[in-house]
Amino acid sequence: PRRVLSGIQASGALHLGNYLGALKRFTQLQDQGAPCFLFVADLHAITVWQDPALLTAQTREIAAAYLASGLDPAKSVIFPQSAVRAHAELAWVFNCVARLGWLDRMTQFKEKSGKHKERSSVGLYTYPVLQAADILLYKATEVPTGEDQKQHLELTRDIAAKFNNDFGVPDFFPLPEPLTQGPAPRVMSLRDGSAKMSKSDPSDQSRINLTDDADAIAGKIRKSKTDMGVMPEVGEALDDRPEVRNLISIYAALSDQSKDAVTAEFAGQGFGAFKPRLADLAVSAMAPITAEMRRLMADTAEIDRVLKDGAERAAAIADPVVDEVKTIVGFWRA
Ligand code: TYM
Repeated sequence: PRRVLSGIQASGALHLGNYLGALKRFTQLQDQGAPCFLFVADLHAITVWQDPALLTAQTREIAAAYLASGLDPAKSVIFPQSAVRAHAELAWVFNCVARLGWLDRMTQFKEKSGKHKERSSVGLYTYPVLQAADILLYKATEVPTGEDQKQHLELTRDIAAKFNNDFGVPDFFPLPEPLTQGPAPRVMSLRDGSAKMSKSDPSDQSRINLTDDADAIAGKIRKSKTDMGVMPEVGEALDDRPEVRNLISIYAALSDQSKDAVTAEFAGQGFGAFKPRLADLAVSAMAPITAEMRRLMADTAEIDRVLKDGAERAAAIADPVVDEVKTIVGFWRA
């Protein structure tokens, strides 16, 4: 059976990349009728320091973003990762399945640990192993994420295959399909077309936050980097115009059109004509989400109900799987 699973870290503000690469796609999959499991990755968040007083609020905020972007808790299971013990239990077993050599190749660890590898938490290193546990615990068939998670999803498949093989349980864990091919799988910075839009970019001008108001969004798009040219013709190669390509991708994803359709509409026009249209689109997509998030955060009772109910529904799937794993591994069972 089809089962969609994905997560978002509980570590600070969400941006347009998270919306187009993840949130918008989750809602589309749910609305196609796929059973969706979406969680707030708080265990992953603490691989770098999180102020305990803020972590709870950030967890609720991601839950609010799920609800505000159109996920329906009657259809989709929305829960905090740490509230389902099976995630941490399976991650331990997978720590003993995954090989050091596999983790040494993970580019996200290299980026996040930077020059200070020896001062990074051990959790940051084994982060992708926990991610594999998140996915396989639900025997997920499809994992929608932005392109930056592709390597982690490949590792997940490697861990599943090795577990199945080592313990002689072929097909116990299905190999999940990564869905990293949306219209905007990699939204780039508004200031630099070679850098990913990211919450860790020191320049706030580089990204559109889900919490930005209409003026802030319009201003950031007006000032976004382009070049000396005009809007491209259909079929024009944009390899040396990454900023222009990025803005067209964003427009296409926000308006549910192909990039060719967007290019055809604006071909030959100046950026002065295109940018205000893009700003209007972004504002009309994000403003209702922001408003709904604010409403949900004003009284957290509704969010807390959703998370508690989601945790119970998630555990009902995950606990029997981890029990089976314990038997397969040979742990003593009463
Ligand atoms: P996180 O919290 O960094 O990002 C959440 C989602 O947003 C996507 N994303 C982007 N998509 C397009 N353009 C961008 N510039 C951009 N920036 C971020 C991410 O790809 C992601 O889909 N490791 C995950 C969380 C996680 C997870 C999982 C995901 C934990 N366990 C299991 C899937 C399955 C992460 O750090 O996402």
